[in-house]
Amino acid sequence: MDVFAAVTRRRSIRRFKDRPVPDEALEKCVDAARLAPSGRNQQVCEYVVINDPAVLPGIFENIGGSVRLPPEKGGPAPSQTPGAYIIILINRKLEETPNRRHVSLIDVGLAAENIMLTALELGLGSCPILMFNEENLKLLLGIPAEYDVALVIAMGYPDESPVVEPAKGAVNIWVDEKGIRHVPKRRLEDIIHRNRFSAD
Ligand SMILES: Cc1cc2nc3c(=O)[nH]c(=O)nc-3n(C[C@H](O)[C@H](O)[C@H](O)COP(=O)(O)O)c2cc1C
Repeated sequence: MDVFAAVTRRRSIRRFKDRPVPDEALEKCVDAARLAPSGRNQQVCEYVVINDPAVLPGIFENIGGSVRLPPEKGGPAPSQTPGAYIIILINRKLEETPNRRHVSLIDVGLAAENIMLTALELGLGSCPILMFNEENLKLLLGIPAEYDVALVIAMGYPDESPVVEPAKGAVNIWVDEKGIRHVPKRRLEDIIHRNRFSAD
């Protein structure tokens, strides 16, 4: 799959097939994250991969947003919850200075996209999740105090096919009567400024 095709095809997936996600797939995704750009190559991110059916429900209880909506509003049925997670941590001990955090968060975003595109190539869907209960996740997973939970990526084999469409004003994602998720994206002409900023 070429890179632009992958970027175009990737959508956040919130309904998954009831099918286990193999260790090797998660490891390949983390390997892709490992190779992502990072400010001054400091590589402050570490990753917890979760696919143990005994652990998955505890993670699901501690994440939020659309992935927790009821099925009629686009959320997963009980059998469609994520089959795996990759949790991106920031190791504070590796951050050279306290004001490095904004750089670290950019590192997290770049690592996350590598994970999600690699997942796509492996037939997996994913959804980045910033709404989570950090305290509970740290407790549940035994994450040491010097680590911050930066992002949770829900993963699994997709059981939905969201569609992207040009935004006509509002950019809220919406679910139609067939349960298909629509993702409005601002048009290229509305966001690009060629050679200098132009408001036209
Ligand atoms: C930084 C960030 C935080 C997000 N947090 C959540 C979240 O907490 N819950 C959720 O269901 N989706 C979350 N999303 C997914 C967005 O809703 C999704 O990316 C957006 O609607 C665009 O859809 P797309 O990913 O299919 O292009 C997050 C995405 C990003 C980039």
